[in-house]
Amino acid sequence: MSEIEMVVNGRTVTGNVEDRTLLVHFLRENLGLTGTHVGCDTSQCGACVVHLDGKAVKSCSMLAAQASGSTVVTIEGLADGADLHPVQAAFREHHGLQCGFCTPGMIMAATDMIARHPEGLDEKTVRSELEGNICRCTGYHNIVKAILAASETMSKGAARAA
Ligand code: FES
Repeated sequence: MSEIEMVVNGRTVTGNVEDRTLLVHFLRENLGLTGTHVGCDTSQCGACVVHLDGKAVKSCSMLAAQASGSTVVTIEGLADGADLHPVQAAFREHHGLQCGFCTPGMIMAATDMIARHPEGLDEKTVRSELEGNICRCTGYHNIVKAILAASETMSKGAARAA
């Protein structure tokens, strides 16, 4: 067993977990943060993406103990109260989902992608960078549109703030 402590969505949390406990299971089962999904458990689908110290990671591919001491943000931590994050708002506006299972992972991956491309994104880059996130129903078109729209909104916001 391992004693772990991390900051999740701005709150310090502790746990006593089996050494083999995956981060995704700690988030879902110990903390009740079920917005992070498990699609494959083998690092293929991206449904489990969260941010660890500001970077997108597949939380089924790391142990909870490895995340101890880190800062984690899940889909539940992205909105500012009732105000959706711009990426969430763009997915809603552009209908970037159908069943919604992949959506939390898509949004967390997209948020990281946009942060790494402050100059903006083009369709080819979005499609290429989404290779680690699988959607079985949308055909990706509206997901890509949503990410491009969010990237534009966020780069305009950054330009205004500068
Ligand atoms: Fe982690 Fe599929 S559940 S990549």
